[in-house]
Amino acid sequence: MRLRDKHGRFITDLRISITDRCNYRCVYCRTGNQGAQYSELPFTDYLRMVRVMVGLGIEKVRLTGGEPLLRNGIVDFVRDVAALRTLDGQPLDIAITTNGHLLANMVGPLKEAGLRRATISMDAVDPATFARITRVPRGYDNVLAGIRAAKRVGLEPVKVNCVLLRGFNEDQIVEFARFSRDEGVVVRFIEFMPLEEDRVWSPDVVVAMDEILEKLNLFRPVRQLPNAPSETARRYTFDDGLGEIGIIAPVSHPFCGHCSRIRITSDGKIRTCLFSLFDHDLAGRMRQGATDAELADYVRTVADQKEARHHIGEAGFIKPSRSMVHIGG
Ligand code: 5AD
Ligand code: SF4
Repeated sequence: MRLRDKHGRFITDLRISITDRCNYRCVYCRTGNQGAQYSELPFTDYLRMVRVMVGLGIEKVRLTGGEPLLRNGIVDFVRDVAALRTLDGQPLDIAITTNGHLLANMVGPLKEAGLRRATISMDAVDPATFARITRVPRGYDNVLAGIRAAKRVGLEPVKVNCVLLRGFNEDQIVEFARFSRDEGVVVRFIEFMPLEEDRVWSPDVVVAMDEILEKLNLFRPVRQLPNAPSETARRYTFDDGLGEIGIIAPVSHPFCGHCSRIRITSDGKIRTCLFSLFDHDLAGRMRQGATDAELADYVRTVADQKEARHHIGEAGFIKPSRSMVHIGG
């Protein structure tokens, strides 16, 4: 039986945070000072979790963090995950979400080990704005080199994620449209969600989809491209077909009804939603000596309880129990 929740959604997409450490301190994610708890598991533990879940119908695995490239041994881990097969006997679709800082030198070996796709976070095309958001002085050149290297080794389509924050980077929307067209990458604008360690979020800080589209249209007329129902991004190109923009609008246009995702935190807990108020201690069960079959049963029970949707922006919204570095994007 394939993993399915009580709302009828099939769960096919696993995101696993392999560390909560990060070399950046993005304003929408980390506090300026302390932060990550440095909780991570040996790769053998993550691999067992992935194997059990693949046995339940997972077909896509995305490695996230924190910053996943900070983990030594990640290339071997990708190779081990790539050796697994889906219930239909197919290779898994293995992807990574990274800040790109260390990517340029690692992307070749990662691709060779079986990585198929890369999403790189870059919140400004302008280096000074980039530094203000990431709070590291000289990351921009590394990230640009990482994006270009991912393209060079053929991890297509290379996706660049930009979280828009009013007062920081809404002036970068058109710059990113040019970037997409010049570099041949998909640029995806993400509405800011209340998942940060500090209390930065308010509805006023969110740059919503309609405003993004308006700004893009002033640059060049956009036209929508078809997308799969479980895809989080609405896809657009321009009138001449050059460049691709995705808009991920969890705040103004929630897509929970089609969500196919489940997450494992860096300390081995299952989260059924980014905004879950609880997580489920899979690693704890492993430590207590559960068999693979017992773990599978547990995962099935947990997945069944996946939340119908998030409640961002509603009265009584409760901020989730963990921030993005622990959960993983
Ligand atoms: N809201 C929206 N996106 C976020 N990300 C990190 N924190 C937030 C947030 N609070 C993005 C990262 C990365 C992806 C995993 O999620 O920039 O691209
Ligand atoms: Fe690090 Fe990503 Fe958080 Fe930025 S958003 S601090 S790159 S984990």
